[in-house]
Amino acid sequence: MTTQPTNAETLTITDNRTGQSYELPISDGTIRATDLRQIKTDDADFGLMTYDPAFMNTASCRSAITFLDGDAGVLQYRGYPIEQLAAKSTFLEVAYLLLYGELPSATQLDGWVGEIADHMFVHENVRVFMEGFRYNAHPMGMLLSAIGALGTFYPDASKIGDADLRHLQAVRLIAKMRTLGAWAFRHTLGQPFVYPDREKSYTENFLAMMFQIGNKYEADPRLEHALDVLFILHADQEQNCSTSAVRSVGSSQVDPYSAVAAGIGALYGPLHGGANEAVLRMLRRIGTQENIPAFMEGVKAGNERLMGFGHRVYKNFDPRATIIKKACDDVFEVTGVSPLLSIAQELEQIALNDEYFVARKLYPNVDFYSGLIYEALGIPAEMFPVLFAIGRTPGWVAQWNEMIQDTEQKISRPRQVYIGPAARDYVAIENR
Ligand code: CMC
Repeated sequence: MTTQPTNAETLTITDNRTGQSYELPISDGTIRATDLRQIKTDDADFGLMTYDPAFMNTASCRSAITFLDGDAGVLQYRGYPIEQLAAKSTFLEVAYLLLYGELPSATQLDGWVGEIADHMFVHENVRVFMEGFRYNAHPMGMLLSAIGALGTFYPDASKIGDADLRHLQAVRLIAKMRTLGAWAFRHTLGQPFVYPDREKSYTENFLAMMFQIGNKYEADPRLEHALDVLFILHADQEQNCSTSAVRSVGSSQVDPYSAVAAGIGALYGPLHGGANEAVLRMLRRIGTQENIPAFMEGVKAGNERLMGFGHRVYKNFDPRATIIKKACDDVFEVTGVSPLLSIAQELEQIALNDEYFVARKLYPNVDFYSGLIYEALGIPAEMFPVLFAIGRTPGWVAQWNEMIQDTEQKISRPRQVYIGPAARDYVAIENR
């Protein structure tokens, strides 16, 4: 087939069922799916739809927050490369950037950090229901429920049309997610909850609420910095599974606590934010270098996945994984090297040179090394997805805020291709 170059930003489609041609506008490299509906075989026909399970090739929104080029391994927040943000910024500054589109001035940053500090405490009743969880409840399940419940403390959260109130909920969510995440961990240990402290930075506060015994806790600044970098790397990833969940649930105009709770639910799964926990369990299960070949054979035979490898969008390398490897070195300098590191490195080496992984463009993702850092910080595996959720919260609220103001957005409601039985009559139970 030869194509004649033209300047027209349109797509011509010929429907071979009818012989009719249609010209559809192309904008930003996309056609409008609803433009296909005019393509019908007759008046009674519903019109053509696209079938796209798992949204492999469907843009659900226009967004100015995060740019990601999976082939080139590029990730930018509001245009700023992730490498520069990880090297020079802080998590709270990045949160401001994601929400408001620009880096804050020194005064704005001071105000923002102060606001987050003002809202880091939770109502005492939250403490009571956190105590009600079973002793072995998964911290991510606790966080999910606690964030949903948090919405009941703020009836003003339902006024999503009010920009000032949206800002307030964003601040509350970013500030309290960390408090609740740390408290979920303390509950699993049966230790008293530690209250946040205005004098500490965001990340130092989190570490203190996790590990402080009595009045004493001093975080090593190098470890605090490494965790802050990890939070930055997790802060947004455009329309991933959990962000899509936040947008989709939020499109019903529910309060943002309910929408973000849905995001936490999505993140909980082992293919998404639960992958870092799964990586560590996998490394522990492999245990020694001798077990690696048999494990890899099992992966290639399709018995299981090499957790922490592969990504829906990054098909070359995950830029976050490169930064994390460096953070890993910094942390191990302080804590000593994890025995699991050599297993992870060996798995990576084999995978990067093995036809199975190369052909499928499977590379280490953000979760392959993050678990090792968390482990070195003394954080147990079931807390890993909670850390991911704390990091992702600014992204969720920024995407939610953008969605609410997008006049093109409506309640999210995909179509389906029905493949069930044709209409039939009810059969009385005695005749079945
Ligand atoms: N180990 C072994 N094989 C894999 C893996 C893996 N980790 N990932 C994908 N494949 C294979 C898969 O079996 C399939 O092979 P075939 O074509 O022979 O059937 C092929 O690669 C394509 O896989 P897919 O499932 O169609 O790819 P996807 O884009 O739908 O899935 C993924 C992306 C991240 C869910 C998947 O790569 C995976 O399950 N990885 C392990 C879990 C993981 O590390 N998740 C964290 C993702 S990054 C953090 C985040 O943002 O959530």
